Amino acid sequence: MKNKTQALTPTDIVIFGGNGDLALRKIMPALYHRLRDGQLPKTGKIIGVARKEMSRKDYVALVREAFGQYVPKADFDKNVWKAFSDRIFYAHVEAQEAGSYGELKKLLDDKPVERRMFYLATPASVFGPISYNLHATGLANERSRVVIEKPLGHDLESFREINNAVLECFSEQQVYRIDHYLGKETVQNLMVLRFANHMFERLWKGDAIDHVQITVAETVGVEARESYYDKYGALRDMVQNHLLQLLCLVAMEPPAQISPDAVRDEKLKVLRSLRPITDKDVAWHTVKGQYKEGKLKGKSVPAYRKEVGRASDTETFVAIKAHVDNWRWSGVPFYLRTGKRLAERFSEIAIQFRPVPHHIFPDQDSDPETNKLIIRLQPDESVKLQMVTKVPGPGGYRLKPVNLNLSLADTFNERTPDAYERLLMDVVRGNPTLFMRSDEVEEAWKWTEGILNGWKKTGQEAKSYVAGSWGPQDAQALMERDNRKWHEDLN
Ligand code: BG6
Repeated sequence: MKNKTQALTPTDIVIFGGNGDLALRKIMPALYHRLRDGQLPKTGKIIGVARKEMSRKDYVALVREAFGQYVPKADFDKNVWKAFSDRIFYAHVEAQEAGSYGELKKLLDDKPVERRMFYLATPASVFGPISYNLHATGLANERSRVVIEKPLGHDLESFREINNAVLECFSEQQVYRIDHYLGKETVQNLMVLRFANHMFERLWKGDAIDHVQITVAETVGVEARESYYDKYGALRDMVQNHLLQLLCLVAMEPPAQISPDAVRDEKLKVLRSLRPITDKDVAWHTVKGQYKEGKLKGKSVPAYRKEVGRASDTETFVAIKAHVDNWRWSGVPFYLRTGKRLAERFSEIAIQFRPVPHHIFPDQDSDPETNKLIIRLQPDESVKLQMVTKVPGPGGYRLKPVNLNLSLADTFNERTPDAYERLLMDVVRGNPTLFMRSDEVEEAWKWTEGILNGWKKTGQEAKSYVAGSWGPQDAQALMERDNRKWHEDLN
């Protein structure tokens, strides 16, 4: 354990849904890593809460077992585990019943600390009842913080219901709405790249940029989440939150400072500038897809419909041509694309610059490719700048695009922390910059709903694509119509 203990307010961390996938796969390992690096407050319990009756010993064993899978062997240290497991407790609670919060109260009242963080890793339908019961039983107060996670509703109205229920008990400043994409190192780096390097700012607009592509491609299918996924689909699951947040970070104006509201105000302005997509143009600006059976890395994988066991029309792929209607981005399309069971797992932002206004090297077979800035979010986090250079040797000017390549792993040679580590620590420190404010989520839902309504009204169907491909043919057509193509050169 590195000795970097900071003067952080002692905090008890209570995880509702403590025996669920999110808690065991993400939250607990993230807290372990922060303790290992000496960054958790010195005191405070970590209390798993769930409906199951379980002893503390069994719960600690459950967490330990999960670590076998989710904490890399090289990161596991027996002494750190001992210190970590000494802080773990368990309380059996029926979230909806105020009368069943007794065990939790007893734990929290034993050597109480100054602050309480409640992480609601549960379905959103119980965010309201839990918030209410935490107040009714006196477990939460104005110094408490509550963390909630998507799906925050399935449309604007259901988001408002859930959000209002939570805001009846906690103030906006106490609520931390996680979008884990904002905790990714490369996503944070996007702000640094833009706002700590002068060279980009002058080029960061329609005069110099032709278009922007944001891709989040996954090779996984719906995993064990059919019942959730089939109700949501890729638009609600990925675009409404992760992809729109990335778009905001690319498109926003420089905030005056890195304070929570300065950053979130700028993101909000972008969301408000998104040109609505409605039934009039939804077919032209969006593509819905669903994977059929195919092969991924040589292994056969079943069709989505087989996985969910019904003739569903839920989209597992979506491509969108979006516009941000303001001065900076006038005439610059933002192409968004995400899908499951695609050929490769990669997330990236590609900023395509315009060609030079006048070519002086006439001997080319075709126009040399122009500059491109590629921010690879995962895997192999990197920033690449494609430049056109002369191929060495006599024989005139032969031009070739090559990459200046900044590999973050090679440059810093440090473990990339999981997004949850940064975000959980931000909650402990009380820094909501990387969390979504109510008004941001509202605006994101408003825009998303336009597309959902458009699909419904026009009966737009999901086009099938072979698992292991790059999505339906229509997604290529969306680009070809504009004389552009998706960036799929992953080297
Ligand atoms: C989640 C979605 O928010 O993000 C999942 O619900 C998706 O469907 C996941 O697989 C992707 O996250 P990451 O960090 O693996 O890119």
